[in-house]
Amino acid sequence: MKRIASLLSIFAMMFCLSCSQSNANGENKSNNNKNNTEMNTQKEKVLVVFFSQAGEQYSVGNIEVGNTKIVADYICKYIGCNQFEIKAEKDYNMPYMKLIEVAKAETKSGELPAYKGKVENIDQYETIFIGGPVWWGTYPQVMFTFFKDYDLNGKTIIPFTTHEGSGLASCVDDVKKAYPKANVLNGFSMYGHDVRTGEKKVIEWLKKLGF
Ligand SMILES: Cc1cc2nc3c(=O)[nH]c(=O)nc-3n(C[C@H](O)[C@H](O)[C@H](O)COP(=O)(O)O)c2cc1C
Repeated sequence: MKRIASLLSIFAMMFCLSCSQSNANGENKSNNNKNNTEMNTQKEKVLVVFFSQAGEQYSVGNIEVGNTKIVADYICKYIGCNQFEIKAEKDYNMPYMKLIEVAKAETKSGELPAYKGKVENIDQYETIFIGGPVWWGTYPQVMFTFFKDYDLNGKTIIPFTTHEGSGLASCVDDVKKAYPKANVLNGFSMYGHDVRTGEKKVIEWLKKLGF
């Protein structure tokens, strides 16, 4: 009971921190211009870069496949694309409450944790989806390591998140900060506990984008 109360208070706090960024139900909110809602849909190679943490997660229990990965898979199933999963060198597989603390410390210190692998020939992609869970109001720090390593200025970037109340939080703004010369489209967000029944919603969003 005590644990549930402390989880709820953490998320109440996090939700308040980010409510200026999210709409009432936390979905599909972004500060972008209207003309940034659609893209050109020529047949081109598309990449989805994402981070996702399986294991013990808020509201969905112990999951074998992370919430964001499920959304990334829906995207590629629908439009056909390549994926790069950002896998941290360090192990985040730990009890949820411990992970909350580890992530909080990383966000506070601005740590840039290392990740495995690299994207082959990123120049072949003009359009790149970037997705991750909201961790303490933004993307996990390891995603910022990726942003530092790859210059995506000049490309079209489509951010998305999964979350438990914060919506897009500051993720779209943080992508814009990382890539001021990219064409960053409106973001998309979905509750983590909704993704397993949310394929239709993802497809609707992709159709709106013109895919
Ligand atoms: C360390 C950590 C911090 C989190 N911080 C937030 C937050 O600030 N706002 C929010 O709405 N959800 C937060 N969550 C919930 C996750 O965003 C949500 O469960 C997400 O769907 C997890 O996606 P994944 O399974 O792809 O990693 C947090 C979860 C973790 C593990």
